[in-house]
Amino acid sequence: MKSNELIKKAEEARKLSYSPYSHFAVGAALLCKDGRVFIGTNVENSSYPLCMCAERNALYNAMMNGVKKEDMVALALTADTDEPCSPCGACRQVISELFPKNAPIYMANLKGDVKETTIEELLPFAFSEDALK
Ligand code: THU
Repeated sequence: MKSNELIKKAEEARKLSYSPYSHFAVGAALLCKDGRVFIGTNVENSSYPLCMCAERNALYNAMMNGVKKEDMVALALTADTDEPCSPCGACRQVISELFPKNAPIYMANLKGDVKETTIEELLPFAFSEDALK
């Protein structure tokens, strides 16, 4: 699957967003080696800290369907932003643990701007399990 197709899946996922508080809808889509795509969107709550981001929901969706880190190929996210939407700090930490470090992450917006990066670029010197040994 091409990056623009994965971004389209993220756009579709974004339409499912439950974001009545921020009115900021985010969509994410995670591609697996076998071609499966797992989507995620942000789900908010009146108790604000309970809001969950699109990227983490996509990753957790994949994991709950038995997908292993080594089977993950690419991640796309999109929102209605001026610049390609960038993952928040909490999502970067979760991505750094659960997603391959050199796999492409496509940050996009609805205008068609795309920036390709990796979690190594987004979160250098990440805290990891290594520190807990
Ligand atoms: N949000 C995401 O879904 N992903 C991010 O990386 C940034 C923020 C959501 C959380 C909240 O529902 C809304 O966007 C505004 O912060």
